[in-house]
Amino acid sequence: SLPVPNVQQLASSSNATSLEEVPTRYIRPELDRVSSDDHCVSIPVIDMSKLVSDSHADGDELAKLHSACRDWGFFQVINHGVANTMMMKMNADIQEFFNQSLHEKMECAQLPNTIEGYGQAFVVSEEQKLDWGDMLFIIARPLDGRNMNIWPKVPSSFRATLDQYSTELEKLTSSLLSSMARNLGLEPGKLLSLFKEGMQGMRMNYYPPCKQATKVIGLAPHSDATGLTLLAQVNEVQGLQIKRDGKWIPIDPIPGAFIVNVGDIIEIMSNGEYKSIEHRAVVNPEKERLSIATFHSPNFSATIGPLSNLLTKDKKGQAPNYKSISHEDYLKLGAKIKLDGKGKGL
Ligand code: SIN
Ligand code: FE2
Repeated sequence: SLPVPNVQQLASSSNATSLEEVPTRYIRPELDRVSSDDHCVSIPVIDMSKLVSDSHADGDELAKLHSACRDWGFFQVINHGVANTMMMKMNADIQEFFNQSLHEKMECAQLPNTIEGYGQAFVVSEEQKLDWGDMLFIIARPLDGRNMNIWPKVPSSFRATLDQYSTELEKLTSSLLSSMARNLGLEPGKLLSLFKEGMQGMRMNYYPPCKQATKVIGLAPHSDATGLTLLAQVNEVQGLQIKRDGKWIPIDPIPGAFIVNVGDIIEIMSNGEYKSIEHRAVVNPEKERLSIATFHSPNFSATIGPLSNLLTKDKKGQAPNYKSISHEDYLKLGAKIKLDGKGKGL
């Protein structure tokens, strides 16, 4: 990967007041700026406490979750059981991390040719357009996948906070996966066993303000190559948009909720019944924005392909819409495919 400028530094040194001051590699005329005017459209909201009590009966909340995964690919989760104090602590530590000087943050600098550590999204050519944001990416699970050399030491509580947050989000994800398996007509433990000791990555995003906010993008349109993503807002600034019926829809997060989205792997495993939706993050002209995306993927021995029960059960005779490949090959292919801006159609 090629080194690119630190965006937080760039934003603070140039104050980015005029278009000339934003380097051309950040200007993205190719991106569709038009967002839907229809701000009333809101993604489904799943009440986790109801979903858990539905787990022994076919209740409304299970049906709501099924339609959220099938018809939207995105939903919010409330009453999710992750303590508010935990979320506040995570937010405070992340804010403190990004508030350090560049020199201090570089203690956790990205390792060569990976996205682990502090830095920017993967860049492979001098021509590649750049996103208006920095990130701290860590692998939190499996436990032996943690690279403690790049785990932040500042603030001093950060590592313990990340560890607790990782555990809490794994629990919540498992709960969602068992309801999803039920909804898909799988054995209740099917997805859980595939995701057991799977990969959990955390991407902490920092998007500086930009006076030319409409000309740049915080995170370019993509779908998540992973299984299930839980997104949390760190401050009150919103910027997530999802593509629905060809239009970009801004998401209005419920304070304290998680925004959950189906990734490519769940789409593939469900043979396309659940959808991995394209989304992006826009930048605010005056305020910095921070978010945490936590990605969950199956373990390395899981095959990535449509689950066979789904091809035979009540959907008898249904043909697989995706190839089945090893997780290792999926990761290799994914790295290549993502560079072309294509996903999942493996
Ligand atoms: C994403 O991780 O795709 C979106 C992140 C964000 O809303 O900042
Ligand atoms: Fe994403």
